Amino acid sequence: MRRKIVAGNWKMNLDFQEAQDLVEGIANLCEEKQPDCDIIICPPFPYLEMTSDMADDTQYFYVGAQNVNDNDSGAYTGEVSAKMLDSLGTQFCIVGHSERRKYYNEDNALLAVKIKKLLEYQIVPIYCVGEVLEEREANTHFDVIKKQIEEALFNLDVADMENVVIAYEPVWAIGTGKTATPQQAEEVHKFIRTLICEKFGEDIANQIRILYGGSCNAKNASDLFAQENIDGGLIGGASLKAEDFISIAVQASK
Ligand code: 13P
Repeated sequence: MRRKIVAGNWKMNLDFQEAQDLVEGIANLCEEKQPDCDIIICPPFPYLEMTSDMADDTQYFYVGAQNVNDNDSGAYTGEVSAKMLDSLGTQFCIVGHSERRKYYNEDNALLAVKIKKLLEYQIVPIYCVGEVLEEREANTHFDVIKKQIEEALFNLDVADMENVVIAYEPVWAIGTGKTATPQQAEEVHKFIRTLICEKFGEDIANQIRILYGGSCNAKNASDLFAQENIDGGLIGGASLKAEDFISIAVQASK
């Protein structure tokens, strides 16, 4: 049985006080409801230390970053390295979110380097894949996802691949309120697991966790998580409310 993950991607939201209140709210609800899944909070960079301190104190959740630079260190103004994340106790990092692919032109080749860099520091990459609406309508989504998986992950060895989490986030479902149906999501998750199996073997394919993201919320989470190949969620909007986020974590615990 794969242990489910519920990860909250806060994106570029909340001021410091609001972030602190949300982390406290999540910790309090974890204490009360005792969800039985891996919970990851991915706040903006300036709040990583605060979130990490709280994670250490409570042991209720892990901490993830939303991005990382592909270089070790140096003259890259405004950027954050894997070493820096590691030194703050960051255990996970989202890589290749569609918003970074779209607004910052991140391509699969660059993401492959970022993933390698994170793995050097034992930080687990949460690698995001997913098609835009036109690709789904043209029925090319499987080709798009195959390319995203092959170009960013297929250069890894088996030992590294064991430490990767994949998130399927159809771009048309992100922030739109249009969730993929459980069947649509399951079909793609199964496809991704088959690709991993063909390249890395059955053991890795059976153990790798594949999350769904895109308008996943407290109302639709349990139907999505009931699918055989959906191992939890990467949550945007609904991760900004402690009650909603922990309700999703409780649904992942069944
Ligand atoms: P929403 O849950 O707001 O649709 O965002 C999903 C997402 O992009 C998580 O990374």
